[in-house]
Amino acid sequence: MKPRPARLAPAAAALLAGCNRVQSALAPAGDQAAAIERVWDLMLWICVPMYVLVLAALGWALVRRRARGHTAEGDRRAAMGLTAFVVLVAGLLTVLTASSYIADRHLHAAVTDPVNVRITAMQWWWQVEYLDPDPSKQFTTANELHLPVDRPARIELRSSDVIHSLWIPVLNGKEDLIPGRTNTIVMTPRKTGTYRGQCAEFCGLQHANMALDVQIDDAAAFTAWKAHQRAPAPPPSTPAALAGLHEFTATACAMCHTIDGTDAGGITGPNLTHLASRRTLAAGALPLNRGTLTAWIAAPQVHKPGTNMPAVPLRPRQLEDIVDYLMTLQ
Ligand code: CUA
Repeated sequence: MKPRPARLAPAAAALLAGCNRVQSALAPAGDQAAAIERVWDLMLWICVPMYVLVLAALGWALVRRRARGHTAEGDRRAAMGLTAFVVLVAGLLTVLTASSYIADRHLHAAVTDPVNVRITAMQWWWQVEYLDPDPSKQFTTANELHLPVDRPARIELRSSDVIHSLWIPVLNGKEDLIPGRTNTIVMTPRKTGTYRGQCAEFCGLQHANMALDVQIDDAAAFTAWKAHQRAPAPPPSTPAALAGLHEFTATACAMCHTIDGTDAGGITGPNLTHLASRRTLAAGALPLNRGTLTAWIAAPQVHKPGTNMPAVPLRPRQLEDIVDYLMTLQ
């Protein structure tokens, strides 16, 4: 496929995501999304025939509108037909209400031994913290959510600025992230794979560029990923990377970003400890590679107008070294 201009990427990505089932509520990959899809299916199979029935009745009435006179027998049949229709509608509405109630019970069922995650929404990215009773086992990443298959995840949702909404259609419905309040959502993935989540509440200029890369792993792969993410950043292995680390901590970069194991400890922007292990950049706005990372640091406002990431004045050599260093952060 030919590369698309950066400005078209979010819309195109969202469209394609719907088609290839990485972001489709009709292709559930978890228990809660499956419960929602069953209600959707039932509504479809009830409402489409009802719609056809109502239109057929309307058509019949229009055709017969000029038929003159009415008989007692005709009136009796019309009354019976209407009564039957009212009973049918009431019965079907009861079925829909019951199915909605049952799905709601599925969404809020108690879970045991969940993976505990806290997601904080910011304009316009996701901070993802893996919680643990042992603080030394906690770690923070950004714009990606890894979960193990066949184990529930309990996700705390917070916001640091405006109202956002987390929507991972293959796993569950939408849940708002509200400043000053903690919401909780449970997701129990059942299929491994790569999926996509998206902010579903208009939250400003770059609302569309607020995607979450979702990876469902088997238990062993998830444990390995977690162990890797907990480790501090690997030390620079080349002179350029070493120079890059120095530039990073000596310039404004370190005021906003943390790289565990270095002096960079800013908390305004995403934690970059294992940046190079991620698939996307700037909350899904760009794929992550050397070229996009260089372009992003050089001119964030070009790729994501309105972003809080400033263009740090860097000489070309400094920029190159910093990118060299960041690309070693596997
Ligand atoms: Cu965050 Cu829309």
